[in-house]
Amino acid sequence: MRYKAVLSYFGFIFFLLLNLQSTGQIKPGDVWMDSNSEMINAHGGGILFYDGVYYWFGEHRDSGRKQFATWKGVRCYSSKDLINWENQGISLSVSEDPESEITAGCNIERPKVIYNKKTGKFVMWFHLELKGQGYSAARTGVAIADSPAGPFTFLRSFRPNAGQWPLNFKDEWKTDTLTIDDLQWWTEQWRLAVKEGLFIRRDFEEGQMARDMTLFVDDDGKAYHIHSAEENLTLHISELTDDYLDFTGRYISVEPAGHNEAPAIFKKDGWYYLITSGCTGWEPNAGRSFRSKSMLGEWEPLGNPFLGEGADVSFRSQSTFILPLNNGEYLFMADRWNPEKLRDSRYIWLPIKIEDAKPIIEWRDQWRLSE
Ligand code: GAL
Repeated sequence: MRYKAVLSYFGFIFFLLLNLQSTGQIKPGDVWMDSNSEMINAHGGGILFYDGVYYWFGEHRDSGRKQFATWKGVRCYSSKDLINWENQGISLSVSEDPESEITAGCNIERPKVIYNKKTGKFVMWFHLELKGQGYSAARTGVAIADSPAGPFTFLRSFRPNAGQWPLNFKDEWKTDTLTIDDLQWWTEQWRLAVKEGLFIRRDFEEGQMARDMTLFVDDDGKAYHIHSAEENLTLHISELTDDYLDFTGRYISVEPAGHNEAPAIFKKDGWYYLITSGCTGWEPNAGRSFRSKSMLGEWEPLGNPFLGEGADVSFRSQSTFILPLNNGEYLFMADRWNPEKLRDSRYIWLPIKIEDAKPIIEWRDQWRLSE
């Protein structure tokens, strides 16, 4: 009897030590709980740091057949240490009104929130697909709030940059009469035509497609909307107006026909770095990286930023956001999608560093933020 009691006593001490050791650690791919011991449900998200608090916004996913649409909205969690998260509820709710662009059953993906110092407002942008239309609407949506966790008020959704040519678009491409019907998809001739504006011309009047997206606020306060356009073939980087509520019409196309999704961006030592994925839906693929001296400048491809075993599938994840930390480090955030059970898609957070002028991401089973 005594022997058993001693054993269970040591077992208990061991369990305690294990748990103590794991506190304060980020464990990519584990089940992450909020302060109510409920699974964190904030996918394809991003983080806003405001007044000493981190606000994590993401897609709230339901279970079963409902999981592929949005029935609640964008969920928000808050934290002071990026480890312990408190549920702040739904910060942008879908509408009960069947006429609303964000009526329940629409699809809100990859929401991101930024703070506008001039207006004192919090601005949320997201990828919106209209109810019952699959992924064909390809719109961007915008919402506004007075406080960081919301509630956000939906303003409108649209296809951006209607009637505007990219800044890096040649004059002769504007009048080219070649259309999609003239070409066979995925041929060299077709690829060249995409580079020379095939889809930009097609979508010129209506506005450019906007699917996977992120936001970036530069040191000078200018904000940019980065999104997959042209049937997900090309990324567009667009400047937002001073109030962050609209597009100025100044934009560039990046890697035409390069098939980039899931953009995430950060700035370090005067360089802008962009991480993306390829286009394989919920399935992971090899990540890509780029750098540029200016947001609307030339982006140089730098290859796969993931290193080591599993790099070919980005450690089974897809990028969503990069958060600069106060200690000069950067937190790379990605989703390990589980299309069988989307709400149980896991979070892959890892340090991202620059080595030999390239961003690199290495796997860690668990790691600690240094501050
Ligand atoms: C991914 C995209 C996700 C989601 C998914 C749907 O490529 O990054 O945000 O849209 O496709 O299949």
